[in-house]
Amino acid sequence: MITEEQIQKRVSELAEEISKDYEGREVVLVGVLKGAFVFMADLMRKLKIPSRVDFLAVSSYGKFTESSGQVKILKDLDYPIENEDVLIVEDILDTGLTLSYIYSLLKKRNPRSLKTVVLLDKPEKRVVEFKADYVGFIVPPVFLVGYGLDAGERFRYLPYITELRENG
Ligand code: IMP
Ligand code: MG
Repeated sequence: MITEEQIQKRVSELAEEISKDYEGREVVLVGVLKGAFVFMADLMRKLKIPSRVDFLAVSSYGKFTESSGQVKILKDLDYPIENEDVLIVEDILDTGLTLSYIYSLLKKRNPRSLKTVVLLDKPEKRVVEFKADYVGFIVPPVFLVGYGLDAGERFRYLPYITELRENG
């Protein structure tokens, strides 16, 4: 569905835009584990501004491909974010439950600024209103794997993004 070349080109464009918006500042990239780690690794190396990284782990899907609607913090940030310019990095915005939960959680810690970047956005699946500040690709409401996205922990290693169908 999205080739390695298309992903790399778009990540470069996002990095360009983010670098301009944060010019002269240092950004704290907060990756949402595990899905975001591949995207975050590429994005941070393309940014023209310095960054620090931290990670959050949340669980909302378990082994299944449908949202349970439940968000649970499995691992919190290692460092406080008060007065920091924080950019949440997520693989995909689907129902919006995960990001809206994380956004309000981090907002309470008084960062200097708080924004979100998602590689993929499935607007048709939204349950709660949420808009990411930076979006890589708008995608249809199908289940996708690769480039960090998994199905039961499999396929994260693919350098491209493809649809997962029931019988391959
Ligand atoms: P939301 O809370 O429904 O927006 O879910 C976001 C999370 O669901 C993402 O961080 C992914 O881990 C997972 N997710 C949503 N859609 C997909 C998909 O198509 N493939 C793999 N994971 C997905
Ligand atoms: Mg995820």
